[in-house]
Amino acid sequence: MSQLAELNRRFAIPGMLEFKALPNGYIAASIANKHAGACIALQGAHILSFQPRGQEPVIWLSPLAKFEAGKSVRGGVPVCWPWFGPHASNPAFPGHGFARTVPWRVASSEMLEDGATRIAFEIEQNDATRAQWPHASSARLTATVGKTLHIELTTRNNSYDAFTIGEALHTYFHISDIGKVEVTGLNGCDYLDKVGAGGRKTQQGALTFSGETDRIYLNTPGNCAIVDSGLKRRIRIASENSRSTVVWTPWTEKADKMGDFGPDGWGGMVCVETANAADNVVRVGPQSEHCMSVTYSVEKM
Ligand code: BG6
Repeated sequence: MSQLAELNRRFAIPGMLEFKALPNGYIAASIANKHAGACIALQGAHILSFQPRGQEPVIWLSPLAKFEAGKSVRGGVPVCWPWFGPHASNPAFPGHGFARTVPWRVASSEMLEDGATRIAFEIEQNDATRAQWPHASSARLTATVGKTLHIELTTRNNSYDAFTIGEALHTYFHISDIGKVEVTGLNGCDYLDKVGAGGRKTQQGALTFSGETDRIYLNTPGNCAIVDSGLKRRIRIASENSRSTVVWTPWTEKADKMGDFGPDGWGGMVCVETANAADNVVRVGPQSEHCMSVTYSVEKM
């Protein structure tokens, strides 16, 4: 039986969840329930879309997104794990870790009482990832697609030694226009600026955008929001066990160099990432678990 047929036999929910083939052998869980639609690829447990019924998409996926084995897709919700950004000691290891570029297996699927759909994935490690991350461990991503999108990323340490992880749910949000949004909830937080001369700075007021922005906000409160005057909506981002918030937009020159944004694609997205990065990496004790989660909800303004 093909992998697709086997997945549908074990995990499909009639009228609500089915597995579909995408280009280049990609397989994705396609969810449509009374609240929302969503699509989640097995490679990277990568959420590619989330759209509550009757609303604009919440998540941005590049029209030029490439679906290639071993490469991350531009857009959606890449899972950065078990480190964020460059590896601490080996520049040859992939930026943002390997979780977003390896296959994950489906662990379970269910319909909840309120009509939402929950699906869980577990990472499949291989010899290459074990060479980069020699710890007995596992990662599990659970997505609950309802009126809101709830994502949990759980790290399990199966060994008798502690280890330290960096992580992020690197979500690309669909917005009207980068000039018409602000990110609230970060006022007074220190951030590491990765643009220009860099350094550690303090956020004053709401964050607006007028050029390349790449910041790791540290010790952030659990709640922030994208206020979009163009789409007249507020996306609330409610995180738990996350102490960093990464905000990123590449602007023209960097987006052009990256090649998979499309001519003006970057202007319609902004990344606001629920994370534990830099000063906020997390120690996971022996035989224990750490779970970082986020809920995205949309309000009209
Ligand atoms: C952000 C980083 O989280 O991800 C940026 O802060 C980086 O520095 C961006 O450019 C995109 O990374 P990638 O590896 O998906 O191109």
